[in-house]
Amino acid sequence: MRRGFFGGTFNPAHLGHVRAARAAAAELGLEALYVIPAGTPPHKELPKDGADARQRMEMAALAFQGIPGLEVLDWELRRPGRSYTAETVDRLLTLDPAGEWWMLCGTDMFETLPEWYRGDWLLKTLRIAVYPRKAGEEARIDELSEQYRREYDAVSRRIHVEPLDISSTRLRAMLREGEGAKYLPEQVYAYLLKARLYSVRPEPEALWALARPWYKESRIPHVRGCREEAVKLARRWGADVLDAEVAAILHDITKKLPLEEQLHICEKRGMIVPNFRREYEAMLHAFSGAAAAALEFGVSPAVEEAIRWHTTGKANMSLLEKVLWLADYMEPGRTTPGVEKVRALAYRDLDEALTLALENSLSYLEGKGFAPHPATREALAYLRGEKE
Ligand SMILES: [Fe+2]
Ligand SMILES: [Fe+2]
Repeated sequence: MRRGFFGGTFNPAHLGHVRAARAAAAELGLEALYVIPAGTPPHKELPKDGADARQRMEMAALAFQGIPGLEVLDWELRRPGRSYTAETVDRLLTLDPAGEWWMLCGTDMFETLPEWYRGDWLLKTLRIAVYPRKAGEEARIDELSEQYRREYDAVSRRIHVEPLDISSTRLRAMLREGEGAKYLPEQVYAYLLKARLYSVRPEPEALWALARPWYKESRIPHVRGCREEAVKLARRWGADVLDAEVAAILHDITKKLPLEEQLHICEKRGMIVPNFRREYEAMLHAFSGAAAAALEFGVSPAVEEAIRWHTTGKANMSLLEKVLWLADYMEPGRTTPGVEKVRALAYRDLDEALTLALENSLSYLEGKGFAPHPATREALAYLRGEKE
């Protein structure tokens, strides 16, 4: 049987790895391909925001899912101390001693292979499938193949795959800067956002792609409008623009969920929902939305709070909270009576705009015979300088 394995730190597994694995499996006709994330040397300290072994393993499982015959193995993660590829290969061979075994690696690994522990044995025992990591490496791979054939009688071949010029190191740096999502399978990006790995700053478009399924189709224009308005207001008033955009993208994510489910999400977050009664049903989505944004998308505390208060408002709101509240109230799709005046004010005096909008909301609710949430009255009283 023809089998292959693919080792690496996979910190994180990215599309370069996935493409190479898929191409190798198809081109070599592999019946099994084992992905084996490397262990962490015990003396090596991980950065606080780094992925631990279990997280690298879970990301690899997400990244490579769907490739026929592929299996992610935790062998090296379970082994204490440094793991040598030769030892992993010893164990692999026991699975199928008579099988034809291929090792998949990139050009850089192929280059240093003879220097590895029992490198010559590896070259003689395995067949090597090499993928280019950068454009133009093809000639170098072929040259090394020829050299290893002469020196070790090694069998190797180049995998035909379009190189994706990215390394995990550079990718981690990009993620910190709010870039790089395009190099990752969507599920891996979702995973690392949720776990807040690598100090990732969310990329609005990639976040939107993940958030979209949470929304009813009919709510999409409102969320788009709110996002646009939140960015403009944040720019005008010096709030963190990315935080405002992220908060707007996620602010209504739980709105289509049944109340029981929303309460369950709040509970999972350890969130106490104050004064929750049936008459305040409409505000529950703000609380559950904040909880879901934190639990599922790893948002910062500031963003979580902005989402939490986006319906009721509250006393002493932060700048970001004001921006989201107003963006939600006055986004271009809104036709609430009085909204025009708030729009005109919002770019001149944020607090005055908010005061007017809160007044409008209160009188609208009262007109309909609904009791406004106490936090809304407190928000207004605070803005008017009244002590509660
Ligand atoms: Fe809302
Ligand atoms: Fe909204």
